Amino acid sequence: MAWLEREKTDFNASKKSAFTHALQTHPLMQFEELKKLALRHATVKYHSANIPRTQSLETVVKEAPSNMSLDDALKNIQTSGTFVFIQNIQNDPIYGPFVDEILNEIEKDVHQTHNNLRKRQAWVFITSPGGTTPYHRDQESTHYFHLKGQKTFWLWDPTDRSVVTQEENEFFHGVYGLSKTRYQEDFMAKATQYIINPGDGIFFPYTAPHMVENGKEEFSISFSVTHMTDEDFAIRRINKINQLLRKLGLSPQDQGASKFIDHLKLGIHWILRTTLSRFGNNWKNA
Ligand SMILES: [Fe+2]
Repeated sequence: MAWLEREKTDFNASKKSAFTHALQTHPLMQFEELKKLALRHATVKYHSANIPRTQSLETVVKEAPSNMSLDDALKNIQTSGTFVFIQNIQNDPIYGPFVDEILNEIEKDVHQTHNNLRKRQAWVFITSPGGTTPYHRDQESTHYFHLKGQKTFWLWDPTDRSVVTQEENEFFHGVYGLSKTRYQEDFMAKATQYIINPGDGIFFPYTAPHMVENGKEEFSISFSVTHMTDEDFAIRRINKINQLLRKLGLSPQDQGASKFIDHLKLGIHWILRTTLSRFGNNWKNA
C-alpha cells in the first residue's frame, strides 16, 4: 500500500513541496501505541513546550526542563505543556520495518533528482496545545507527516542568504551546532507558511530552517523520516571546508557560487577525511 500521495513528476529533492498521506490511519501511528514506544524506547527527550521562538533548540532540555515524569507528561499531554521527541525510532524492533517501508516508498521519488539515499532515520513529535518548536535547522532532508491536531509550520529557503548567512551556514555544517541559528522577527516575511492538519505533509530540503507552533485546542502528533543523499553530503562537506578556511583567517567563496571551486573543496575534504578519520575524530562520518 502506498501511504504518500503526490505528483511524482513535480518532486525535486532540493526544493520544498507539500504532499498528502494516510499515515494518520496506520495502527503504529496512534497515540496509545506511540506512548508505549516512548516509554520503552532508549532515546526520548522531553521538555517544556512553552518556549519563545528565539529559544535555541540545542539547549532547550537544559533551559526549559519539564517538571514531571515522561509517563505523567504523556498521560496528561493535553494539559502538561510538554514537547516529547521520540528519536531514532528506526531502531525499535516494532517500528523499524514500518520506517523502512516508508523510506523505500520515498526513495523512488528522491532518486529522480538525488543519488544514494542513506542515513535513514525517523522521529515522532508529541506536543501539548500551544507548544512551540523554535526556529532551527536539522542535519537531514525531511519528509514531515502530520498525524493529529493542527499546526502552523513556517519554512525558509536554506540558500536565502538574508536568513541563513554564509557564516551561520558554515558554522552549522562545520561544527554541527545551532548556537548561531537564532530566529529574528524580520525572518517571518520571508517564510512559507503552512497550516497543517492530519493527512498533510511537507518535504523540506537539506537543512531548511523551520519553526512550528501547535494549535491551542488539541495536542498534536507528527512523524518525520529523514535522510541524506550524495548531494546533501556535498553541501555539508563544502561548508565544512569553508569553516576550516575561515578559521585560518581566509574568506572562502560561498558554497554554490562556483562548481569548479566546490569540486576542489570536495577533493580537499576527501583527503582530510581519509587522513584524519584514522584518528577517530569528527571527520569520520563527515
Ligand atoms: Fe526540525
